[in-house]
Amino acid sequence: MRVLVVGSGAREHAIVLAMAQDPEVTALACAPGNAGTAAVAEQRGLDVLDPVAAAELAVEWKADLVVVGPEGPLVAGVADAVRGAGIACFGPSAEAARIEGSKSFAKDVMAAAAVPTATSEIVDNPAHLDAALSRFAPPYVVKDDGLAAGKGVVVSSDLDAARAHARTLLDDGHPVLLESYLDGPEVSLFCLVDGETVVPLLPAQDFKRVGDDDCGPNTGGMGAYAPLPWASPALADELVETVVAPVAAEMVRRGTPFQGLLYAGLALTSAGPSVIEFNCRFGDPETQVVLALLRTPLARLLHSAATGALVAHPPLEWSDGAAVTVVVAAEGYPGLPRLGDVISGSEADGVLHAGTRRRDDGAVVSTSGRVVSVLGTGADLALARDDAYRRLEGVHLAGSHHRTDIALRASRGEVTIPQGAEVVTRSGDVG
Ligand code: AMP
Ligand code: GLY
Repeated sequence: MRVLVVGSGAREHAIVLAMAQDPEVTALACAPGNAGTAAVAEQRGLDVLDPVAAAELAVEWKADLVVVGPEGPLVAGVADAVRGAGIACFGPSAEAARIEGSKSFAKDVMAAAAVPTATSEIVDNPAHLDAALSRFAPPYVVKDDGLAAGKGVVVSSDLDAARAHARTLLDDGHPVLLESYLDGPEVSLFCLVDGETVVPLLPAQDFKRVGDDDCGPNTGGMGAYAPLPWASPALADELVETVVAPVAAEMVRRGTPFQGLLYAGLALTSAGPSVIEFNCRFGDPETQVVLALLRTPLARLLHSAATGALVAHPPLEWSDGAAVTVVVAAEGYPGLPRLGDVISGSEADGVLHAGTRRRDDGAVVSTSGRVVSVLGTGADLALARDDAYRRLEGVHLAGSHHRTDIALRASRGEVTIPQGAEVVTRSGDVG
């Protein structure tokens, strides 16, 4: 099978590496890729937001399967164009990608499917902002209604900060979504979806804030781990039943079936699981840890989902043990990052490239805020963490920063799910 992966981040590097290990894959390309994917896959230039160009490349390269990594191309219609050219594509149509591209659309689908989520209100007129904010209690949650790479959200108990963020968005012409605050640990659940067929991958946890102890602004994700030792082994199946399958069925009912990866971001609150967001693609950095543990060959699995054959695919197989990834970010990220710096040590095993390019002189340089995602594995979370941080010591980038506490609390059994008035700690039962 000839597989073309669209995108250029560490998620795409992880997908390309998993494809490279699949004996069924005879040729592999990544467009536009990065310095890491170039070591394993043919590199092709592409404006990923141009559906016609993507479909032309898929035809010219004779792809049997196209896997679209990021949300931008999906929302722009790349999957429609590739399928229109008669090539199997793992990724939803532009219509179905609205589940991520518009938070108000996602809220509408969830309401119709009776899926629990935060209560919310859309504000598109600055004159209505204060009245709307007064209907919420702190901590305030203020979101950009459109795509914002995880950075359009402010969660703050400071009313002035919440108002200021909302004003900035409105001044830029973006409708604002206000939400009730969801307590409890977050879970990223990736599901392969093919119409009404839903196959969950291992639940993972992402670290959204830039600094240790969840301080500072939100980012695209600074690290992740899987599995979740504090969660019940039945969690994924429960979430499929109560959240993902009803949403998949609602998308079918609307005539816009979802085909690809439906990512449910949830909070496990005292009142039960509640959806924070849906994404229409693999998450980054969670994909790095989830695929590190997946033993089932990836190409046939994604091809099945892309061609209506997921229901007949054998059950997934997973490695025992755990995986942890730590993102190394450029100075300034998640604000304006400093780019063009040389990274050393990036060719080592376990270093997944997020924003890198090889210069003509052979040096690998940074090209975006998240630069590499260092992956560690081990028999348990503590060992996987040690492995990731040991590998990270070999990577050098001037001015870079990373979190030092990825998976730390989980490895110590300190993650808790609030349950009514009391807090219950679950530990030890790695699912
Ligand atoms: P989103 O862009 O919707 O994924 O939000 C980014 C991050 O902001 C989430 O991963 C959460 O950490 C936080 N967040 C978003 N919505 C809420 C909410 N309603 N309650 C608490 N935290 C939230
Ligand atoms: N890790 C969060 C995301 O991919 O949206």
